[in-house]
Amino acid sequence: MRKPIIAGNWKMNKTAKQAEELINQLKPLVSKSKPEVVICVPYTDLWVAKQAIAGSKIKLGAENVAWADSGAFTGEISAEMLKEIGVEYVIIGHSERRQYFGETDKTVNMRLLQALKNDLKPIVCVGETLEEREKNRTKKVLKKQILEGLNGVTDFTNLVIAYEPVWAIGTGKTATAEDANKTIGYIRSLIRKTFGADVAKALRIQYGGSMKPSNAKELMAMRNIDGGLIGGAALKAEDFASIVNYK
Ligand code: PGA
Repeated sequence: MRKPIIAGNWKMNKTAKQAEELINQLKPLVSKSKPEVVICVPYTDLWVAKQAIAGSKIKLGAENVAWADSGAFTGEISAEMLKEIGVEYVIIGHSERRQYFGETDKTVNMRLLQALKNDLKPIVCVGETLEEREKNRTKKVLKKQILEGLNGVTDFTNLVIAYEPVWAIGTGKTATAEDANKTIGYIRSLIRKTFGADVAKALRIQYGGSMKPSNAKELMAMRNIDGGLIGGAALKAEDFASIVNYK
């Protein structure tokens, strides 16, 4: 059985002070949660978040990681820096990184291999744009993102994939549960063909894109959906907790 994983992606929201407040509100609300609970927060919030989650079930994630160990990479943050704080998860290849900051399948792959080498647990994001979907290119796009993004990975134990159709992110439009399940099923079949049946069976694949309290239960009931990557609804303790406690 794959353990469900609900992860918040705070994006560029919450100062360190606000992060502490939000975590303090969240802690009692998720203390009995069944799924694994992760919050991926801005770099500047990581230290305070690490202190604030102490004694709770909440795990800490960052929103990116550099592909190099150290050196002349202005603006980047290394795996070693994250590990020292106690970061466990990292989001890699979020569509906003791809869209606004030149992230490609190649750089996703470099970051991913670096994360795995340093025992960080990657949440690798894939998903098609509206245009790609309308042109019936969803499978083709996902295949390229997965084959190139995951190239060279041999150990999938700690890896999570997040399927996030770009048109559903922050738009209020959610893929229907059946649709999300079908597309994630395709991703799983691709993983099976490429990396083997055991990997495909154990790999956790999340849905992301306007997941909220009102649709979490329906999405989580789907056979192929093992969790959620939550943007907007992760910024309010009650909303995020109600997704975590979807049952
Ligand atoms: P959203 O964002 O829940 O606000 O749509 C999800 C994401 O981008 O990870």
